[in-house]
Amino acid sequence: MPVQPIRLFGDPVLRTPADPVRDFDKELRTLVKDLGETMMAAPGVGLAAPQIGVGLRVFTYYVDDVLGHLVNPTLDLSDEEQDGDEGCLSFPGLTYPTVRALRVVAKGMNMYGEPVTVEGSDLLARCVQHETDHLDGILFIDRLDREQRKLALRAIREAEWAGQPAPEVKVSPHALHGRAL
Ligand code: NI
Repeated sequence: MPVQPIRLFGDPVLRTPADPVRDFDKELRTLVKDLGETMMAAPGVGLAAPQIGVGLRVFTYYVDDVLGHLVNPTLDLSDEEQDGDEGCLSFPGLTYPTVRALRVVAKGMNMYGEPVTVEGSDLLARCVQHETDHLDGILFIDRLDREQRKLALRAIREAEWAGQPAPEVKVSPHALHGRAL
């Protein structure tokens, strides 16, 4: 069962800060594989472990045809910002303009415990910031300006998935053409 159900907004796991990975073992490699396969099946450009109910600091990304993952990330953000629509696999069908740093340098480990650096701008930078937020229990709606957050919360209340327990995502419900995070 490599493709896992994606947890939706309202599930407490999405608001729980994840723990650092300490054991770079077979279980971690299975988690990275499951995350990658679940992300690709959704489809999405990023997925963090809490979104499949695992409270560990791990995420995967798929940006510009590169599939990658990062464990225990720390971020260095540019002062220069970008603005653009952002969505999340845990909020099916919803996107809002979200300001993020334009560039990011992310340091962490790979699944073998080797140090790695992921450096990028634009969508990759947005994705890395969004997924690292997930590891801290922060969701993209927290990053919206007041007006947009009001719109988002209203749309969430009216969403047909609201309050439902983690359904399995078989066909993407996203209008994002695979660009959700
Ligand atoms: Ni997300």
